[in-house]
Amino acid sequence: MSNSVPVITLDGPSGVGKGTIAWHLATKLGWHLLDSGALYRLLALASKQQQVALDDEQGLAQLASQMDVSFRSGDESCPVYPLLNGVAVGDEIRNENCGNRASQIARYPGVRSALLGLQHGFVSLPGLVADGRDMGTVVFPQAELKIFLSASPEARAQRRYKQLRDKGIDASLPRLSREIVERDERDRNRAIAPLIPASDAIDIDTTTLDIEGVLARVMAAVQQRGL
Ligand code: C5P
Repeated sequence: MSNSVPVITLDGPSGVGKGTIAWHLATKLGWHLLDSGALYRLLALASKQQQVALDDEQGLAQLASQMDVSFRSGDESCPVYPLLNGVAVGDEIRNENCGNRASQIARYPGVRSALLGLQHGFVSLPGLVADGRDMGTVVFPQAELKIFLSASPEARAQRRYKQLRDKGIDASLPRLSREIVERDERDRNRAIAPLIPASDAIDIDTTTLDIEGVLARVMAAVQQRGL
């Protein structure tokens, strides 16, 4: 990681709209984008394909260390299109099954440290916008600007529901609500890199804001830091 490349981190729970905000921000600034959740989702997919069990921490960490991941830039509805070992991966990583499997895998210290170098590799001029759960606390603690987005579980379930339906992915709102609460619990209470705001992060509660409203606040912080 180079100290001369500016980094902005966007962390928060699932369904809060980090991906969309990160995409807009990276597009406005002309910076690179790291969707770190996609890495955990890709590992979830690869482990399923290669039949590595969910309780096999060592096997999962080894698989993580061998993953060759790159991103093709996407759009507002899908911020990045990942390639795993050179092969484009479709919507199969975006469903809730894969998200849940990713969150179970993400508990393991061996997996997290195997993915650290991969994440640092995305730092590149003119700058990086990184979204996830531990971007500001663990992966990029020296980031120039750290944002933590929150929203009520109900608002997040509604947003995720709309996002999945817009992509033609089947979803049930009550089930999504349950899964979001479960995933929050797991992400917040895990022993390593839990979902918490960095002490120097700017908190934005997005429950009653639309995308433009959130973006305006983020851009104000960006300008204030002279980025
Ligand atoms: O953000 P997304 O929903 O794609 O992330 C899927 C899962 O990957 C999360 O629920 C979380 O458990 C894990 N994750 C993580 N650290 C990150 C990004 C995602 O633990 N930086």
